Amino acid sequence: MITTRTRSPEETLALGRRLATLLSPGDVILLEGRLGTGKTLLTSGIAQGLGIAGPVASPTFVIARVYRDGFLPLVHADVYRLSSILEFEDLDLEETAASGVLIIEWGEAIQDAVSEDRLVVEIEMDSETDRTLRFVPFGAWRERSLEGLL
Ligand SMILES: Nc1ncnc2c1ncn2[C@@H]1O[C@H](COP(=O)(O)OP(=O)(O)O)[C@@H](O)[C@H]1O
Ligand SMILES: [Mg+2]
Repeated sequence: MITTRTRSPEETLALGRRLATLLSPGDVILLEGRLGTGKTLLTSGIAQGLGIAGPVASPTFVIARVYRDGFLPLVHADVYRLSSILEFEDLDLEETAASGVLIIEWGEAIQDAVSEDRLVVEIEMDSETDRTLRFVPFGAWRERSLEGLL
């Protein structure tokens, strides 16, 4: 587990870009934290790091968006509005993202429905500008180095 702090939106974007360098096809990342902690912003940084050109918009109302113009496809989901794990399973996002990276905001609700090989990022708001980010690896992620994040 690695814990770090960012002190501006730009630092969170940069952290996302560093995380992107560690990713490979099939990776699953769950983002946890209250509204406004920076889950979508961290995803934007990851998208930048993957070479995705466009802006990353919050997928709250569409549940999931797929970005295909980077080094790896990125599936970005927000499961806040889903009412059940069954609904989540019907979306089959892991299949859609099999050749790329799957990032799920509000992931704690569906963690039993995704691969046990996952990286959980817990984000806490310390102040208007400061965030604490805890990276917790599960399954095969435990064998991987997270040093590149720091
Ligand atoms: N250190 C920081 N890291 C991330 N976001 C920050 C930070 N400081 C301020 N912010 C602001 O917090 C908000 C985070 O929004 P967003 O990424 O949409 O959150 P979430 O997806 O978790 O609801 C943005 O308006 C961003 O500018
Ligand atoms: Mg969001």
